[in-house]
Amino acid sequence: MEADIERVLIAEEVIDKRLDLLARRIEEDFPGEIIQVIILLKGALVFAADLTRRLPRMLEIECLNVSSYHGGTESSGQVDFLDHKLPDVKGRQVLVLDDILDTGRTLRAVVDRLTADGAAKVKTGVLLAKDKARAANVEADYVGFVIGDEFVVGYGLDYQGRYRNLPYVGTLAESAIDPDHRPKAQE
Ligand code: PRP
Repeated sequence: MEADIERVLIAEEVIDKRLDLLARRIEEDFPGEIIQVIILLKGALVFAADLTRRLPRMLEIECLNVSSYHGGTESSGQVDFLDHKLPDVKGRQVLVLDDILDTGRTLRAVVDRLTADGAAKVKTGVLLAKDKARAANVEADYVGFVIGDEFVVGYGLDYQGRYRNLPYVGTLAESAIDPDHRPKAQE
């Protein structure tokens, strides 16, 4: 797996330090409240596991299975909620965690949905935010790292379902990319 990585973009120890800082900021922003953490599957699993273990407080963890369609000529920008039942967020203090903010469509749709479902407060955290114009009007409250508009894997992010277990974020070598499935956006 490591042989497929062209360049380590964000090393494990750099992620560790940044997560310490994000956790402190989240602690300050949710004083004494029981946070409902909502993890967007699957990419945010690793980030959320490491971040929530830095929050020494009572919290609840839920997951949301959301699918979005990226890039390509047939892109509709539609975001589908795939779970039969969404978490009950009415009156709750919610922290949504995702691995990457790219076009912004996913995060925008999730925040809108949770707000419509009656969440009292919705804050958002992403490990990575691409430095680009967003198709949807949204920015995250907590950002680990701002990166360029390039395709990255590791620390939860995948290419064709793989590389999520790399402990760092990196770019893929050309030799690891299937010419028939070139990544367009962060899909
Ligand atoms: C990826 C990523 C974000 C979303 C970001 O999800 O995990 O949720 O795309 O892109 P956007 O800002 O353009 O909406 P994906 O649908 O690839 O699922 P995954 O997390 O299971 O890999």
